[in-house]
Amino acid sequence: MSETLRRDFFEDLYARTPDPFDFETSAYEAAKYQHTVAILPRDRYQQGIEVGCSIGVLTSRLAEKCDQLLGIDISERALERARARCAEFPGVNFARISVPDEFPDQDFDLMVASEVAYYWSIEDFTRAKDQIADHHMAGGHLLLVHWLPVVDYHVQTGDAVHETWLEDARWRLVHGDRCDRDNLCLRRGGGIKASTQACFENSQFDSRIAKSGQGYRSDMLEKSGQRRQPSLLHQFFSRGLDVSG
Ligand SMILES: C[S@@+](CC[C@H](N)C(=O)[O-])C[C@H]1O[C@@H](n2cnc3c(N)ncnc32)[C@H](O)[C@@H]1O
Repeated sequence: MSETLRRDFFEDLYARTPDPFDFETSAYEAAKYQHTVAILPRDRYQQGIEVGCSIGVLTSRLAEKCDQLLGIDISERALERARARCAEFPGVNFARISVPDEFPDQDFDLMVASEVAYYWSIEDFTRAKDQIADHHMAGGHLLLVHWLPVVDYHVQTGDAVHETWLEDARWRLVHGDRCDRDNLCLRRGGGIKASTQACFENSQFDSRIAKSGQGYRSDMLEKSGQRRQPSLLHQFFSRGLDVSG
């Protein structure tokens, strides 16, 4: 798979089953959400956004931390359930937006991309990274959470998505974890205390992941103050097509 997954794919998915990823019922997802909220460095954010909010289960957890929170998703069917779930939170709003072709016209101090970036083609992923960087408030956080194993209909793995984001000079890592299917985590940096049950040394953790082949990764980023480095292609063309040697 190399093309971005389009709206029809997700509308069909939600038409077939209202909770296709078992967000409402899975103990694994519940533990992951608990971890996701626990590693947020601040108690409160003014304006949050969850890109690819689906039926709003993680959104309802993030709502505890945000004065205002916008959940965006490509699927109207998913958003109908998200709106119903989060009706009790006056600061939570939803919009049908297809990233990176569209993006809300405002800035955010908490930006969450959880289980979404591996659906984008390489080109759309690059554009989405730019949209997110351009709408990020100074002093805020960007949280990435993605499933690690290869999935046949994903364009990239979770690791590839996170590594590319970490190579982007506009961001620096505040905190990173790799967690296995039982939500046991390896902490990789930063001083944030996570509320997961246990943290493992590298070798122990790697053998757990190797055994199960399953797990996810969380990376908390903040703006570095540096600008985006132009791509190699851009550098090549901006220098001109001098091929004379
Ligand atoms: C696996 S769910 C993740 C839900 C939630 N963020 C979580 O971690 O529990 C991914 C969601 O991203 C949405 N999505 C996929 N491509 C998108 C795009 N280009 N723009 C906005 N949302 C998109 C899908 O409709 C789906 O609901």
